[in-house]
Amino acid sequence: MRIGNRSFCAILVRVGGSKPTLQVFPKPNDSPMPEADHEGQRYAPDQRQETPGFYLKGSHQLDWGMKNRLARVFDPASGRTVMLAVDHGYFQGPTSGLERIDLSIVPLLPFCDALFCTRGILRSVIPAQCQKPMVLRASGGPSILRDELSDEQIAMDMDDAVRLNAAGVGIQVFIGGEHETRSVHNMTRLVDAGLRAGVPVMGITAVGKNMVRDAKYFRLACRIIAELGAQYVKTYFVEDGFETVTASCPVPIVMAGGKKLPELEALTMAYNAVQQGAAGVDMGRNIFQSEAPQAMIAAVAAVVHKNMKPKEAFELFTTLKRRAASVSEVVRMANTE
Ligand code: 5RP
Repeated sequence: MRIGNRSFCAILVRVGGSKPTLQVFPKPNDSPMPEADHEGQRYAPDQRQETPGFYLKGSHQLDWGMKNRLARVFDPASGRTVMLAVDHGYFQGPTSGLERIDLSIVPLLPFCDALFCTRGILRSVIPAQCQKPMVLRASGGPSILRDELSDEQIAMDMDDAVRLNAAGVGIQVFIGGEHETRSVHNMTRLVDAGLRAGVPVMGITAVGKNMVRDAKYFRLACRIIAELGAQYVKTYFVEDGFETVTASCPVPIVMAGGKKLPELEALTMAYNAVQQGAAGVDMGRNIFQSEAPQAMIAAVAAVVHKNMKPKEAFELFTTLKRRAASVSEVVRMANTE
């Protein structure tokens, strides 16, 4: 029996032939469990545990590990991400801007929310003390020397992604491509492995050379990728109807950068994408091929996380670029004197 915070024992006592009486006395604490605090005081049994939703679209019913990894990539404050894509070498080799990832990309790490790279670059170049989440390219096969790029396979075990403490993996899906079925199957196998390990899969809409890049195509491709289990989708921006691509995709979409554009155009594209429902960007060439990559990634982050308008973001880019140029001029002058 409990009265207030204390437990009591009650026993019937009969002395001689008298009527039995009920005697109550405090129960000795004979529990083998250590009582660090006063039992009952901190359990708040009348206060229901909250079961809040999760801020990312379509992700609220995922397991804890999966959500935790997503929350490392997508900033919980804005619900968006600036992923820096540097995986191009997996089929293009040392493409412009990625000749020396140690020199061009490592200094940008503090400015991104996550890096999208291959496991080879991660192990060989990215400092292991880096706290940024890593999303790993998990498909590969044909190089740029081949005409048909859709002939990919899964190129990494999920075990290795876990060993590398990856926050996710990414894979190309060639909807409408020559090897469509294989690439879809690659993705579903990766999703199964990811679900076992708690590692989210980013499905990437890979567009073949002769395919029309319009909202209708991307609605189809993104939706197929989401329906077949990817936790988020990377896709290209289209001028007409991008909001229908994001609306009909039940999981977050990150905008792919594509070929290098003038900075104001790239910032405008990123702005339009997030305003039309994208949960951020996964941009490569438009950042690392910029004449001022650090200024560019900072401007992209302002657009993505702070809804900064493209013109303002471009001014920010110009100011940061000028400042970086004057700092390097000072360093150059100091070294030549
Ligand atoms: C192609 C890819 C890439 O290899 C890469 O991430 C592209 O980045 P960007 O187009 O912004 O340079 O995913 O689909």
